[in-house]
Amino acid sequence: MNKEYKEYLESLLNWGEKLKQTVQDSELLDDEKMHTLKQVEKWQGNIYELLDQEEADANPERMLDLRAEGENLIQEIQGSSNRESVPYGKHKLPPLPYAYNALEPYISEQIMRLHHTKHHQSYVDGLNKAEEALYTGKKGKDPIKHWLREQAFNGSGHYLHTIFWHNMTPNSKKKPSGEILKQIKKDFGSWNSFKKLFTDAAESVEGNGWAALLWSPRSGKLAIQSFEKHQLFQLPDTIPLLVLDVWEHAYYLQHQNDKASYIKDWWNVVNWDNVNERFNKAKKLKWQLF
Ligand SMILES: [Fe+2]
Repeated sequence: MNKEYKEYLESLLNWGEKLKQTVQDSELLDDEKMHTLKQVEKWQGNIYELLDQEEADANPERMLDLRAEGENLIQEIQGSSNRESVPYGKHKLPPLPYAYNALEPYISEQIMRLHHTKHHQSYVDGLNKAEEALYTGKKGKDPIKHWLREQAFNGSGHYLHTIFWHNMTPNSKKKPSGEILKQIKKDFGSWNSFKKLFTDAAESVEGNGWAALLWSPRSGKLAIQSFEKHQLFQLPDTIPLLVLDVWEHAYYLQHQNDKASYIKDWWNVVNWDNVNERFNKAKKLKWQLF
């Protein structure tokens, strides 16, 4: 094998080592890292094989192929690190945007800690399990109906809790302002009539559920809706702006069965800046009105 050819193949091998380090340091998920590292190693194995062949220089196309394979690997790695979606079964518990005790005295640290690390985590785990069963072929013996029900329950639980944490802040301005206030006045008459309607909706939930302020791009209006559990009584084609968890796990340790006093306290921690941000983004979605 001539010297230049050998040096070139060795430089490809070195470059493969650097690529492996980049993958290790990247934000890819663990099993994605493993998969990518295996691919790089397989590619390096092919280069070693070629280096071992006496007559390798007689096969320049093979060298070009190897180089192209390496470039494809880079593209693949770049593609997955610029990911704009969560792979099926890979949802993660989002961190709280404040400390566990930040919402005291309105919501206790003990509740926030349990609610986030136990309840929300279990919805994330349940959603991942359902997605794996539905989309990656790990269905087992359960019928599809079971996994669809699991996806609806846990997926709604995960997404609603994610909104809920950001809907609250220790620095609440206590009242809405800006665009959302304008829309509240336009649709509900006043802040007070909106607050009463939302509170009544939250109090009306039987057992476990939610109250939600929704934006409906289909009607160009706000709406108030309660959800039973996480996923029943939903209003499709709308975007939740402000949600209130009225499951017993959200208040029982602090307010026992006094749901009304929990709701009253909760109004003190609403993050109206976050509601405005959600509203301004939601309004950009334009549907034909019907
Ligand atoms: Fe909850």
